[in-house]
Amino acid sequence: MRSFIISAYAVAVCTQSVTAWGTLGHQTVGYVAQEFLAPKALAFVKSSLGTTYNQSLGAAASWADSVRSLAAYRWSAPFHFVDAEGESEFLVILGHTLTSTISKDAPLSGSCSVQETRDCGSGGCILTAIANYTTRVAQTSLSAAQRQEALKFLDHFLGDIGQPLHVEAYEVGGNDISAKCSGKTTNLHAAWDTGMVSKNIDDNHDGTVTTYAADLVAKIKKGTFKSLTSDWLSCTSITKPASKRFFLSDAPRDVEEDVHRLFSRAEDVAEASVTPLACPLVWAQESNSYCCSVVFTYTMGQDLCTTSYFTKAVPVIDLQIAKQGYRLAAWLNVIFDGATNLP
Ligand SMILES: *[C@@H]1O[C@H](CO)[C@@H](O)[C@H](O)[C@H]1NC(C)=O
Ligand SMILES: *[C@@H]1O[C@H](CO)[C@@H](O)[C@H](O)[C@H]1NC(C)=O
Ligand SMILES: [Zn+2]
Repeated sequence: MRSFIISAYAVAVCTQSVTAWGTLGHQTVGYVAQEFLAPKALAFVKSSLGTTYNQSLGAAASWADSVRSLAAYRWSAPFHFVDAEGESEFLVILGHTLTSTISKDAPLSGSCSVQETRDCGSGGCILTAIANYTTRVAQTSLSAAQRQEALKFLDHFLGDIGQPLHVEAYEVGGNDISAKCSGKTTNLHAAWDTGMVSKNIDDNHDGTVTTYAADLVAKIKKGTFKSLTSDWLSCTSITKPASKRFFLSDAPRDVEEDVHRLFSRAEDVAEASVTPLACPLVWAQESNSYCCSVVFTYTMGQDLCTTSYFTKAVPVIDLQIAKQGYRLAAWLNVIFDGATNLP
């Protein structure tokens, strides 16, 4: 089983070359976040990214994808996803085998789950990467270039984690499932990364990412997302009711508490960087749950970009991108201003 997991993981690393949300989706996450930055976070973002990125999280958001296939950055490839696996983890506590609290991930059978210990590879995954770069972006002993790198990784990974197929191991996150988008042959993963996102932007947002971002920001400030934002910043797992929360790491937390706890351990940077966080895991579980409810609900031969599947997917894409942009701002605000500074 171990060797199967390792080889499946190797395949995932090699073939996930088409990357989450594509450039357009990532940029939108960054542009949304930029609108909600608190004063110190905004000042850091502007000075760190500088003219190279027009002082903008939008412009810097897809840098991590542009370097991941270069030899110098190949180590970062596993950080773009977490592979929710189809294997149950059996846990024996005081002689009782518990399987119900940790169900396996099998989206076609309606079972979705992400478990950090089960799913995060030994080389790290998006969950450990977010912890690492949260610690590093605030580390004043690092160089400006190292802190800019950390910022660009956070900018990107908070987007990736919102893409349901970046938190799914099945068929290499859908890369191995052939699909159709507007008559063109593609795969399921790529349709979610780029095909449906760019059609959505063309159909509904004047074909530009900045308009798309502005439309999502308006929904957050005074539209249908306004009433949801406080939930977005609490990190109570939607997939795990309170009665099923078993471990300390399952206790409800929010964005502020998560970052503050990480920093309280940050004297030892190496230890802090791998400390499991509550919020990124909850974000991953939320995205992954869409694999059960929407992502795999197509029918044989259905065109994902022109049928009812597209109509069903667009609200999920809008929600996930808006939510992750807002969370990125909140996360940076806690890091630099000490609080989310958001309603
Ligand atoms: C740079 O950012 C400013 C606003 O901060 C914007 O008006 C301008 O269009 C941006 N330029 C580019 C090239 O994106
Ligand atoms: C943390 O980030 C640094 C710099 O990018 C990287 O070299 C290191 O491998 C990362 N550590 C973990 C545990 O992800
Ligand atoms: Zn990515």
